[in-house]
Amino acid sequence: MQVIIRPTTESAVALTAKLITDAVNENPGIVLGLATGRTMEAVYADIVKAYKNKEVDFSACKSFNLDEYIGLAGDDKNSYRYYMNYHLFDKINIKKQNTYLPNGLAADEKEESARYEWAIKAAGGVDIQLLGIGEDGHIGFNEPLSSLASRTRAKALTPETYQQNSPLFDNPEDMPKRAFTMGVGTILDAKRVIMLVTGAKKADIVAKAVEGPVTSMISASALQLHRNAIVIVDEAAAAKLQGKEYYNWIFDNEPEWEAYRNI
Ligand code: F6R
Repeated sequence: MQVIIRPTTESAVALTAKLITDAVNENPGIVLGLATGRTMEAVYADIVKAYKNKEVDFSACKSFNLDEYIGLAGDDKNSYRYYMNYHLFDKINIKKQNTYLPNGLAADEKEESARYEWAIKAAGGVDIQLLGIGEDGHIGFNEPLSSLASRTRAKALTPETYQQNSPLFDNPEDMPKRAFTMGVGTILDAKRVIMLVTGAKKADIVAKAVEGPVTSMISASALQLHRNAIVIVDEAAAAKLQGKEYYNWIFDNEPEWEAYRNI
């Protein structure tokens, strides 16, 4: 795992977006794993900007999102399908039929979960998976105690997640209490993983996930088991990290980061 600390939220976001667009340019047929949430809005805005500046072409890409609320149709403005169309897919040239999210209205949850896993496999697996982290340490909607080997399935959300996300609904009580989510095992199968964490509110949990023991109580700690995981944090989110000096040293000295130091 590598931890990269950027001085501001904007530079952490810009670095994340640049890693994604560079990966698309290197491999135009790439399979992207995408996340939603407040943190990602700025990343998608940067990616859209790069697309408008003709710096990147998504026409051959495929994407798989981490999760979707159960019970919401894709045209519901609180669904993650709606979020993705609004923030990214409608603003770049990715083919809509190549963008996948679980179907929140699927009649058979087990079948839908298996179908999603199959679709990821059929596409050749996720090349680069973008992640945020919840205040309870979730990645996707893998709430505490999610098996570190879990696959896509329906999951009950924690009261904490409900509290964090329900203000985004016009009527907070309309927030579903369950969601489909890729499992921790599904996420760990991605060839590369990038987790972006910003803001002081996430400082505690990111320190536990990165420097604490691997535990199913904090799903994000499973990234320690991944061979190509990058955690990008801004100064505020980095506040509780013990190894800051070493992480900065790596970013300042490893040749792979040379092209990214001025972002
Ligand atoms: C959303 C997702 C979640 C979010 C996390 C952080 O698709 O997978 O794990 O990344 O809840 O959300 P924000 O960025 O709103 O704090």
